[in-house]
Order: sequence, then C-alpha cells, then structure tokens
Amino acid sequence: MTISSAPGKVYLFGEHAVVYGEPAVPCAIERRATVTVERRSDNHIRVEARDLSLDGFTVEYTGDTEHRPDVDVPTALVDAAMGYVDAAVEQARDAADMPDAGFDIIVESDIPLGAGLGSSAAVVVAGIDAATRELNTPLDCREVARRAYNAEYDVQDGQASRADTFCSAMGGVVYVEGDECRRMTAPNLPFVIGFDGGAGDTGELVAGVRRLRSEYDFAAKTVGSIGEIVRQGETLLQNANPETTPGQALLTELGQFMDFDHGLLEALGVSSRTLDNMVWAAREAGAYGAKLTGAGGGGCIVALDETPETETALEYTAECHDVFRAELDRTGVRVEEN
Ligand code: PMV
Repeated sequence: MTISSAPGKVYLFGEHAVVYGEPAVPCAIERRATVTVERRSDNHIRVEARDLSLDGFTVEYTGDTEHRPDVDVPTALVDAAMGYVDAAVEQARDAADMPDAGFDIIVESDIPLGAGLGSSAAVVVAGIDAATRELNTPLDCREVARRAYNAEYDVQDGQASRADTFCSAMGGVVYVEGDECRRMTAPNLPFVIGFDGGAGDTGELVAGVRRLRSEYDFAAKTVGSIGEIVRQGETLLQNANPETTPGQALLTELGQFMDFDHGLLEALGVSSRTLDNMVWAAREAGAYGAKLTGAGGGGCIVALDETPETETALEYTAECHDVFRAELDRTGVRVEEN
C-alpha cells in the first residue's frame, strides 16, 4: 500500500491569462489531497472517495471507463471525480509500462471541490505519485507534474495550463509561462481564503474569456494586461527576502496588484456577485488586496492580511460559507506511507 499527498493552491496572479501563454504565479497552500493506492491481483479499479465536500461514494469497475457504476450521487460529480482518478491511473500504468495494473484507491481531500483551489490537480498529482510508487516506478516531482498535466489535459479536453499541476507537484510559489515552469523564492504570504460554498464551471468560464478575447481587441489587451501585472508581481517577489516576514511596503504593492488583477478578471466576466462581495468585505476590513482565485464564477477568493480583521469580516459576510487562513506550503507532492 502506498499513500501520497499533494497540496492545493491559490493564484496570487494570472489565472485565465495563463491559458493564452501569459505568465501566472500560483502558490501551494497547506490544504492537501491524500490518495491511498493498493495493487490488486486483477485489472480492476476500485475507488472510494471520502470527505470530498460531497457525499462519500465507493465504486468498483473494470477499468473500462465506459462502464459507469450504478451509484446514488449525481452523475456529473461521479464523472468528474472518476475522470481525474482514471486519468491518473492511466498515466501511472503508462509510466510503469503495466497497462493491466489494477488498484484499490481511496481519495481524501480537505480542498473544496471545483472552487479554485486546485482540488483536481492535487488528486491527480498525489494519485500518479502513489500509483507509480506502488508499481515500483517512482517518478521525480517534475515528471509527476508533467504526467499530471497530461492527465488534466485529457480530462479537460485540452483546456488546461501547467499552472495547477506544476504548483501542486513542486509546492511553494511557482512561475508558469507557457511550457516554462519554475519554482520561485518568495516570503511567506498571509493568505486568507473565503469560500462561497459554490463552484464555477471552468470549461464554460475559459470558453467565455476565449470568445471575448477573439472578438474584441480590448478584451485581448485586458488579458495581456493581466500578464503585465504578473511580470511586475514576480519582480517584487524575487526582490523580497524569502527568509523574513514580508514588510508592509511589499504587501501593499502586492495587494494593489491583486486588486487590479481582480478588476480585470471581473471585466472579463469571470467573477460573480458572491465573489465580489467577499472581495469587498476583505478590502473594507483592511486587507492589502483581494481577488478571486482560479476559474471564478463562484468558489474562493484570496486576500492578504496578517491581522484577524479579514477573517472576522468574512465570517460576518452572508455570501461567505467558510473562511480560513492558509499557510504557504513549501512541500509539493510527498509520500506519506510506502
Ligand atoms: O479553478 P481552477 O483551480 O481549476 O483554475 C483554473 C485556472 C484557469 O486559468 C482558468 C484555467 C487553467 O487551466 O489554468
């Protein structure tokens, strides 16, 4: 039996624009998905999902994804969860050159599903790591990231950037621009996350931005401006001392860039009233800055505040279902038990 875990993430800057080759800076957070994998003697795959912010379910099937199990939860959720686990299994089988390997799999996660915190990337990364180790073919983090990207790319019909999967595999703060992916040195940032209890449809939101960008020059320029924010934000972080607590001047400027980024995402139509209300609650509470994180449409915002003020304000915000502080997680995928 092998257990691996991988972190979720927030986007400090750059979601959506990253799809068009602009840079993004996602940051891994201390909320993890944990995947337990045990080799079976046959070629079946049995998946048990626990604590996924949806009712747990267990399914057994032959590894043939056409063969849907008969379970009492909405098909879309089963398909989504199974799709990512399937894709991870396929990558592991391919890496180990064992196309018929069967597994019992348990997926646990404290990352809200589909809410912009990279839950699917964390499941895929941890799944590939655990399954390849179980087949005695451990991969290095970069190879796990590369294969996790391939898995997401397949499940999301080509609508995936390398940002989520690379960040989850490597941990810390990362810079992603097209195929260039690298870790950055950065100080620990005081993230506060507000969750509206909902989820956006990533495919639809990405398609909406794509439409706007191809139809209007000003929308294309808006996407380009997000890229500019990311480049300047990266310079700020690179010049900061990663060993010390970030100072007011750095947080003020980063916060200003986050506010700007949120405004541009809002203009591109990917925010929502609940996300905007949470963003404004955070700003009015004195956060350095606040923005949606991930695809948008619903889900989470991320704010910068080292005081308890933003958390308190979000607790009293009607649209906010859950609020928590998230430390930067400098460890990416890791094996918990082998
Ligand atoms: O909502 P998430 O965590 O799946 O993030 C989506 C981020 C996008 O930039 C909109 C798409 C992508 O693949 O980068």
